[in-house]
Amino acid sequence: MAVAIEKEHFLETIGGEEAAARMDSESRADFIEDFLAGQLKGRPPTVAEVEERIETKPVRSGAGFLFAPLDGKVAKLPPMPPNPTIVDFFNLRFQARYTRNHCLQSATRAMQNGMSDDVILACLLHDTAAELVRSDHGYWGAQLYEPYVPEKVAFAIRYHQALRFYPDKDAGYEYPDLYRYLFGEDYVPPPHIEAAYKMLRNHKWYMEPRLVTVNDWYSFDPNAEVTIEPFLDLLGRNFKQPKEGLGNDNSPVAHMWRAIARPDSPL
Ligand SMILES: [Fe+2]
Ligand SMILES: [Fe+2]
Repeated sequence: MAVAIEKEHFLETIGGEEAAARMDSESRADFIEDFLAGQLKGRPPTVAEVEERIETKPVRSGAGFLFAPLDGKVAKLPPMPPNPTIVDFFNLRFQARYTRNHCLQSATRAMQNGMSDDVILACLLHDTAAELVRSDHGYWGAQLYEPYVPEKVAFAIRYHQALRFYPDKDAGYEYPDLYRYLFGEDYVPPPHIEAAYKMLRNHKWYMEPRLVTVNDWYSFDPNAEVTIEPFLDLLGRNFKQPKEGLGNDNSPVAHMWRAIARPDSPL
């Protein structure tokens, strides 16, 4: 049942089966192809089959959603205000279909479940760096947010990526079926992910990234009405918004914010 639900949600995320069928093979990006191929075969692909598809794709699977949308359609973006805040990035740059809706749902669930501020904030931000780059998005995300959020929040963002590969029955987290389609049935996580998992098992903050994965897992309803509004108070208390605006504050990660703000700049 879990498999069927996730397939359904996956197709809804990309605009439904009709939208998937309308796309020509050129504009179908990475995991849409992998998913549909797996569905035709009635089983997830093997790692070798996932690798065989690399040269059939217009962009690499690690490209950020903002730069390489899954439906292949790039829209003109609204201008950013001169001193952009995290809320401006949510509303104007994080793509509704991909990271915005999903992260808002994760955070909404975390809030409903009575999680700590740290976990709610980590859920709110956990996948947003995937707008910039999807490969190692937990690490990119932690770096992107480190100057502005409590250390525990950056820790949870960094390591949710590793913990997604490892079930924890007691915490209510199972290995996601979607990953079998994305990475291949026989996929083994790379050494840095295995090492992170080993380290995390004995870490006093293990539950922070784990609770991100728990709230992540149940947050793929594309029809949910979610906005940033319920989180404004929490952001006000926990997010150190630079007065010059994200990207203008000369922080070590300012260029990363500028790249998200100006994704159409060729250099
Ligand atoms: Fe993630
Ligand atoms: Fe997520």
